[in-house]
This record gives sequence, C-alpha cells and structure tokens, in this order.
Amino acid sequence: MAASAPGKLILFGEHAVVFGEPALSTAINLRTEVFARPHTEWRADGGSFDEPRYRYVKEGLGSSAAVTVAALGAVAELEGRDLNPPVIARQAFEVEHEVQGRASPIDTTTATAGGGILVRKEAANGLLWTIGRDTRRWFLHECALPPLTLVVGNTGIGAATGPLVAGVKERVDRSPEAAEQVREIGRLTLDGLAALQRKDLEEAGRLMDRNHAILNELGVGHPMLEKLVAAARPHSFGAKLTGAGGGGSMFALTDRPEKVARSIREAGGKAFLVTSEAQGLRRLP
Ligand code: MEV
Repeated sequence: MAASAPGKLILFGEHAVVFGEPALSTAINLRTEVFARPHTEWRADGGSFDEPRYRYVKEGLGSSAAVTVAALGAVAELEGRDLNPPVIARQAFEVEHEVQGRASPIDTTTATAGGGILVRKEAANGLLWTIGRDTRRWFLHECALPPLTLVVGNTGIGAATGPLVAGVKERVDRSPEAAEQVREIGRLTLDGLAALQRKDLEEAGRLMDRNHAILNELGVGHPMLEKLVAAARPHSFGAKLTGAGGGGSMFALTDRPEKVARSIREAGGKAFLVTSEAQGLRRLP
C-alpha cells in the first residue's frame, strides 16, 4: 500500500504558532511517497526503525510532516482503514509533538489537507478541524490564496526542530520583549494574509521581511539563511526563512523566479521553484 503527502511552506507565523498565534502555510508541489507492506516486524527502508532518522516514522506508525502523514496513510490502508483526514491530522500532530517535544499542528494539517492553511485562535469560515494540547487549542482552516510564485532556497544545513522550538520557549518565558515579538508575528500573519488576498504582493513581501527579522531576534536565524535571503531580496517582493530555521530553508515571493533562483545558487544554496498544491494526503494506486 502506498500514500503520498505534500511538503509545505510556512508563509507567516512559524514558532509563534506553537504559542497559539495565527500562522499561514501552503502545501507545495513537492510530495513524499511512502510504501508499506506486511512484515513480521516493523522496518524502514529494510533496516531498523531505531535509527534516529526514522523517529517520525517509528512514533507514527517527518524529518517532516509529509513523511509522517504519508506513513500514517500507508499504514491505515495496510490495516484496511479509510484515509480519514481529521484522524490522520491529529495522529500526525501527536507524532510531531512526541518527536519535537513541543509542536503546533500547522505542518501536519497542511500535509494532510493540502492547499492554503490558516491557523487561528478561534473558529472562522473554512474551519477544517480543531486540535488541542494542554491549555492550547488550534483552529485549522482551509484558506484560499491567489497563485503565488515562490522560490525556495535550501541552505543544505540540517537543524533539528525540537531544540529550536525549545529555545524560543525559553526566551519567551524569561523576556516580555520576546513574548511581544511572538504576538507581533501573529498580527503580521493576519495582515500578510489580507495583503496576499488583495494581491498586494509588495505589502505581503514587506511583512515577510519583517517576520524574518523577528525570527532572527528570537534566535532561529543562521548566517547561511541571511546569505540566501540577501541574495533573493533585490529581485523579490520579500524573503524569509520558513519552518524551524537554524539552517533549513528560506523562500522568496517574486515575479522574477529565474533570477532569484540563480542568485540563490550563486550564494551557495539549492533553489527550487514551487507552486501551491491543492491536494493533501492521497492513496497511490
Ligand atoms: C516548523 O515547520 C514550524 C514550527 O512552528 C514548529 C511547529 O509549528 O510545530 C517552528
């Protein structure tokens, strides 16, 4: 049995969303496929499940949400169960929470549902499902976004999400300024969504730049991310890191994708042009 799930970009609001602030993401047209077949013991790629790189798969039964969601989908099919999106989204969130130590459901819901996803503190139009954990409750909405031209720049530097999320929590717990920065990201997200929906890409880009600056102040930047962001900005409306930071990837919102991709490559990153992807988790024939 096989299932596939899309990767995602967080357009606004990573890290702040872990504290319950709004965030906006889109599924992208880079997908992960997971194949599952019956065996007498659980294995991944024919080897042991106990290797650290399979933790997301082992607990769920992904280094990414797409891996977790596709693995849960493939195993559900193997066990003769329907692919039930709210159930898979909740299970996948629990897996990420377990592996990272602390998480929000934005990545796993985006991989499950596809399309644009808006996380809010309360229910609004387009509510898909709610997911709660301790005192936090996230309301996950589908959200129509205009077609966006996005270039992703990968630094090639791996960074585990858990410690980055924990580092931000430490700052927020000890510094009222950091707590206010998290709230500012929440406000930026809603302003950024409004700008995207009225196709004001200049304003959306400006807000992305501001979101990136705050993420740096929260300690999740990296010199290589700065290099790629600086390379992209002259040809972009805006550019920011996406996801956990500390390495990983950035993206740029642009109407000159080839030029941005070339600049990112010249600065030493890998560049991909991506488009948004409407389809979430799906079974493969
Ligand atoms: C990672 O892609 C996004 C974070 O906000 C963590 C999370 O939401 O679980 C950094």
